[in-house]
Amino acid sequence: MDYRGTHILSTTQFQLSDLDRLFTLADALRPYAEGKVRTRVLEGAVLVNLFFEPSTRSRISFGVAFNRLGGHVRDTTGVAFSSMAKGESLEDTARVIGGYGDIAVLRHPEEGAVATFAGASTVPVINGGDGPGEHPTQAILDLYTMTRELSRPLRELSRSTIVFVGDLKYGRTVHSLARLLGLLNAMRFICVAPPAVQLPEHLRSALEARGHRVELSTDLDSALAAADVVYSTRIQQERYASPADAEAARGRFSINRERFDTFAPPHAVILHPLPRDSRPEANELDDDLTHHPRLAVFRQADNGIPTRMALFALVLGVEDDIDATRSPVKWHRNPQR
Ligand code: NCD
Repeated sequence: MDYRGTHILSTTQFQLSDLDRLFTLADALRPYAEGKVRTRVLEGAVLVNLFFEPSTRSRISFGVAFNRLGGHVRDTTGVAFSSMAKGESLEDTARVIGGYGDIAVLRHPEEGAVATFAGASTVPVINGGDGPGEHPTQAILDLYTMTRELSRPLRELSRSTIVFVGDLKYGRTVHSLARLLGLLNAMRFICVAPPAVQLPEHLRSALEARGHRVELSTDLDSALAAADVVYSTRIQQERYASPADAEAARGRFSINRERFDTFAPPHAVILHPLPRDSRPEANELDDDLTHHPRLAVFRQADNGIPTRMALFALVLGVEDDIDATRSPVKWHRNPQR
């Protein structure tokens, strides 16, 4: 794809060669992402971050990624605080935002809303999550994390076994990640979920049509035993018709240290897009795994910065100019111990 000026709405836009470019640039941007060195390549540019659903990581990391490239960020959060609460259409909002900023990120509770917004926008739009639809930048950082955690180049992730656990029906990060992983060869996907929230049929058949194996399961221990990557997810309670339905899906497939160490092979790695639901009744990814060396979730969250920086640089066409404004970092930020 030609990244320059392109709306990033879905993982279906990507080929492996696009991910190669993005991951190579993300690697080169790591010292900037980690605050070890500065660039001002986007000095004067403005990102407008529109988050109409709860978010911590995505909103902050999109903003920080833009800041680390030297750009400025304006945020609005919550429909209640925006003019949408006064009945403004997505299209009108998009027209206005395009007059203010150079690029926008939108998260919205309705599937397809980001595409509608992009259709009326005069600046590039990045999908920061559209309801149960897609979350392409999360999938990019998830796949980038897999290459790093398994120490394998992208194409050598082919023939891996990925265990998806949790809410595979409403979890948009799973939908986007399954599509990206589907670009590889001969993958095995074991989908461990209550039957009511299994992976949507259209995604399953698309993966099978590309020659991958997709197994639906409720046997977490056997799935763990086959795993290269365990991708755990939160029950997306905000997308259920009633709290009782969410309750019925919750707490069935808990992974704790003992279970993981007993069943999973030593090289397996645990990913989760976060937030994990740490309330005891959630029974999701147990807090006793927090310091486990194979729990990659915080390194995964960190990877949101270099990957989103790379995406901004490519979409805004500044990827070749980043080092030209390189300068040292003068501040100290280590807390006293
Ligand atoms: C995810 C999301 O918003 O889809 N969070 C994130 O962006 N890292 C997952 C979730 O909310 O469960």
